[in-house]
Amino acid sequence: MQTATKEQTWSSAVYGKNARFVSELGAGILDWLEPQSGERVLDLGCGDGHLTQKIANAGARVVGVDSSESFVQSAQELGLDARVHSGEALPFDGEFDAVFSNAALHWMTDAPSVVDGIYRALKPGGRFVAEFGGHGNVAAIVTALRAMAHRHGIDETLAHVWYFPTPDEYRALLSERGFEVERIELMPRPTFLPTGLRGWIETFRMPFFHAAGEKASLVLDDVEALLAPVLRSGDGRWIADYVRLRVIAHRVAA
Ligand code: BEZ
Repeated sequence: MQTATKEQTWSSAVYGKNARFVSELGAGILDWLEPQSGERVLDLGCGDGHLTQKIANAGARVVGVDSSESFVQSAQELGLDARVHSGEALPFDGEFDAVFSNAALHWMTDAPSVVDGIYRALKPGGRFVAEFGGHGNVAAIVTALRAMAHRHGIDETLAHVWYFPTPDEYRALLSERGFEVERIELMPRPTFLPTGLRGWIETFRMPFFHAAGEKASLVLDDVEALLAPVLRSGDGRWIADYVRLRVIAHRVAA
């Protein structure tokens, strides 16, 4: 069996080419945030700063954090206050009116530590507004990757490394850890992949294909053949089976 690191690494350039749609689709959750002029907002998992910039443009004083140096550097080049931090060990204490996050929390599998860090970062009464992958997200892609891992002798745990909770599960976690949940919902969001399934895998599941080594191209062909009947539209476009969880919760004023 071939093995490889499970560590996902990011290249701002590859992300910009294959996955700009992720921050563009995040515009909807910004409407839930309603950033106000002068308030302090933490953008958790800010990526290359595309949405952080929009929060700043609304007049908020925003700090972006991300564990990827490549992303943080890109965000800083936009003139943003962006810092390298793990979302599982946030260093802030009672200083933000809001914590915002788009398409990032599913990468942080120690969810209790993430929620505790968000709680600590907020002022009492402050709001937490987020969108990320929910239960069933990319289920067809994960199943195909697992099947191809079996066929080609790749470590199958490399096929699924994310946290995709149900609304009930996430509501319970937030409530246990000092939040009052105002709104939480799961929504299917079939998502057009502008650079196809290969572009998506190159961006989001690189370790799986590094593990495939010399067979990577063959494995990709097999994954595409398995998924084409369910994820390709009649006009040949790839549409991924995204499911998003959206939440607004408030730190209970203690
Ligand atoms: C995303 O960042 O949008 C994403 C990452 C992994 C799986 C599905 C979606």
